[in-house]
Amino acid sequence: MDEYIVEMRHITKRFPGVVANDDVSVSIKKGEIFALLGENGAGKSTLMSMLFGMYEPDEGEIFIRGKKVKITSPAQATQLNIGMVHQHFKLVENYTITENIVLGQEPPSRFMGFLPSVDIKGSNKKIAELSKRYGLEVDPRKKIEDISVSTRQRVEILKMLYREAEILIFDEPTAVLTPQEIEFLLDIIRELRNSGKTIILITHKLEEIKKVADRCAILNRGKLVGVLDVASTTTKTMANMMVGREVSFKIEKNPANFGPEVLNVAGLTVKNQDGLQVVKNVSFSVRRGEIFAIAGVSGNGQIEVADAITGLIPASGGTISLNGNDITNSGVRERTVAGISYIPEDRQEVGLVLDFSLAENLAMKKYFREPFCEKGILNNEAFEEHGKRLIEEYDIRSGQGISTTVRSMSGGNQQKAIVAREIELSSELMIFVQPTRGLDIGAIENIHRQILAQRDAGRAILLISLELDEIIGLADTIGVMYNGEMLNIAPAETLTANQVGEYMMGVKAE
Ligand SMILES: Nc1ncnc2c1ncn2[C@@H]1O[C@H](COP(=O)(O)OP(=O)(O)O)[C@@H](O)[C@H]1O
Ligand SMILES: [Mg+2]
Repeated sequence: MDEYIVEMRHITKRFPGVVANDDVSVSIKKGEIFALLGENGAGKSTLMSMLFGMYEPDEGEIFIRGKKVKITSPAQATQLNIGMVHQHFKLVENYTITENIVLGQEPPSRFMGFLPSVDIKGSNKKIAELSKRYGLEVDPRKKIEDISVSTRQRVEILKMLYREAEILIFDEPTAVLTPQEIEFLLDIIRELRNSGKTIILITHKLEEIKKVADRCAILNRGKLVGVLDVASTTTKTMANMMVGREVSFKIEKNPANFGPEVLNVAGLTVKNQDGLQVVKNVSFSVRRGEIFAIAGVSGNGQIEVADAITGLIPASGGTISLNGNDITNSGVRERTVAGISYIPEDRQEVGLVLDFSLAENLAMKKYFREPFCEKGILNNEAFEEHGKRLIEEYDIRSGQGISTTVRSMSGGNQQKAIVAREIELSSELMIFVQPTRGLDIGAIENIHRQILAQRDAGRAILLISLELDEIIGLADTIGVMYNGEMLNIAPAETLTANQVGEYMMGVKAE
């Protein structure tokens, strides 16, 4: 049995109201890339958090290199050469990259014999070596607050390597990355395996598993469904096992039936904090019953277009009209009331109040109206009924139903809650920014169906997405943004994915 570097046997972990892991056994071979697949809330992070010492299992045993262990803290996991990159990075914003990497690790040397000091020079050198060896380029002197998400992730990986991790756990590492960055990360993961490391990759993206993983374990609602050899399994089989039913990769769409124009954006210009134009003279319109999708590589001004329409940032030029009324200078609340729903990219900061209950979050935008509020008194029953109905209709999974604190819910279910709330507003214009980011296939299917149903019900939909498949599958009209400009606008059926991809890289329309 010594071919297994990690064995988790009969692991059960309960949280209030849920069995997050139910008698799960997995064995991982030294030097393999072992993927852990499952829908949001299936129990993937929980299982790996136990291997990293953040939780202890209620039942079951863990063996590392054939030896039974009790891992009671991340520090102990580190001693066992286990490292983990979490879904939400754990870095100190105003520290440098080096400081973050050595934080709590470097045994202080003694300056002049008695003052504890950290050998920053030596650390920098070691970090530079590691960066070079694995292609993880960073400038170690930069502060975290000044670096991009993908660089932050590299810092997390360097942190593991610096601590001599041999078993590397990645919790949904690609959820925050652009397609190019994903390819790059997968290369790094392969490189790490080639140098003898054991990799555990948590994901719900099947193509990624197909590309890099050797074996794959599938979890569904806390239970292990199977362990597969990736090379001899189709993505379709994996998807069906993960969701527990037959899934279709094709988006079924009714013929479009466009009505009058709802949103008109004319010559919109937006400047960022440094006064640079991030949106340049952009014009387009969205009709009732139309999904207008903006494609583009991350950071080309598309988020700013959405933020300007919802009023989160000011327009520095141009006009925005809703149903013929100029709203260019209206406040955010005013625009919501005038008929704009918004599913933002940043769920946790903009979309939800994490310490409120699910019922409260679901009613967030209408608690001041009847039946939630009658003569100035909040009606608890109305909150409960409304919450229960939405949980049912939108398949929102949580430990304790409507009274669950939103913070404890998985990202996918948090997103379902926002989508449910915003759809329920019945606004004429609905703006979806990266609505399925980080979600699994089952949840994606659910949200795509909701978006199409809204379009068929005659709403105007503005969809902003980095996922080309999503754009191609849903859009009636596609606009592509590059470097703040809208390069091309065309009916979706006249464009292939390849053509959209070219515009995204800045190839201009003839
Ligand atoms: N700290 C916690 N407190 C309460 N419930 C939790 C906690 N962490 C996870 N859960 C619940 O356990 C289940 C599994 O969650 P998780 O392991 O995060 O799933 P995954 O990583 O597969 O999306 C979910 O129902 C989630 O809401
Ligand atoms: Mg998770």
